Amino acid sequence: PIIMTQSRFTHREHLKYPFEERGLQFGDGIYEVIRIYHGTYYLFEEHVDRLFRSADAIKLKLPFNKEELKKLLLELLSRNEMKTDGKLYLQATRGSAPRDHIFPGEDVLPNIYAYVQDLPRNLDSLTNGVKTITQRDVRWENCYIKSLNLLPNVLAKQEAKENSCYEAILHKDGTVTECSSSNVYLVKDGKIFTHPAKNNILHGCVRMAVERFAKKHNIPFIEQAFQVSDMSSADEIFLTSSTSEILPIIQVDNTVVNDGKPGDITRQLQTAYEKDAK
Ligand code: PDD
Repeated sequence: PIIMTQSRFTHREHLKYPFEERGLQFGDGIYEVIRIYHGTYYLFEEHVDRLFRSADAIKLKLPFNKEELKKLLLELLSRNEMKTDGKLYLQATRGSAPRDHIFPGEDVLPNIYAYVQDLPRNLDSLTNGVKTITQRDVRWENCYIKSLNLLPNVLAKQEAKENSCYEAILHKDGTVTECSSSNVYLVKDGKIFTHPAKNNILHGCVRMAVERFAKKHNIPFIEQAFQVSDMSSADEIFLTSSTSEILPIIQVDNTVVNDGKPGDITRQLQTAYEKDAK
């Protein structure tokens, strides 16, 4: 068959990406990003567990169990002779089938691919912190699923970029949920506050690690949402993700946080992270 692509006509066989693919057509799939340090996965179990939770949540049957997947991902590292700092990207979609909102039959297998890539640590941002903007969180109620439907996240992050900022802090009616691709925390009077791990945020693997570090250092980790208006009087604000690690936030919209300097608790957590990731 002849099809159109990029304003041209071509034979379907020449199309560079799959023809009817549910990830491409519906965003019907899930993904994970895992940090790699010196050729080793960091928070490996947490990410694998979350992938299976996301799969269950969208009723996607993965063709392997956790142990089998871990073996495959370790083999991917060794086949690539990965020894550096990097990341793994893995996605699984509900496969290729004639376009229909309804799930295809059981004979249609998920399309799965994963790759590893170099990703140096962002030392400048880790040291000096980053600026952010606030944006309305217009996403759906099931953000705990790491789904391929990232359009609101993409638009929010682009808006941040166009305002010379690193991230967009998202809020629902003034209540801060998370950022476009990271979790966010406020420090006040020696305590860390962050949105509870409910359905409307992604339960970050670095967030789990931060909770662990906080417990170890006797810093109260309080799962209680804060407001956009609380940020102007915050002692510290920081964000976390697998690719960003623990990043100090030094500005939110026009408000400078802690005189533009990363705070002590943020620094303490960064140190704990470095030790843990070694
Ligand atoms: N993003 N919240 C959202 C919406 C995210 O997309 C991410 C991760 C996080 C942090 O999760 P973790 O600590 O497990 O990385 C929170 C990845 C890195 C991405 O989409 O590139």
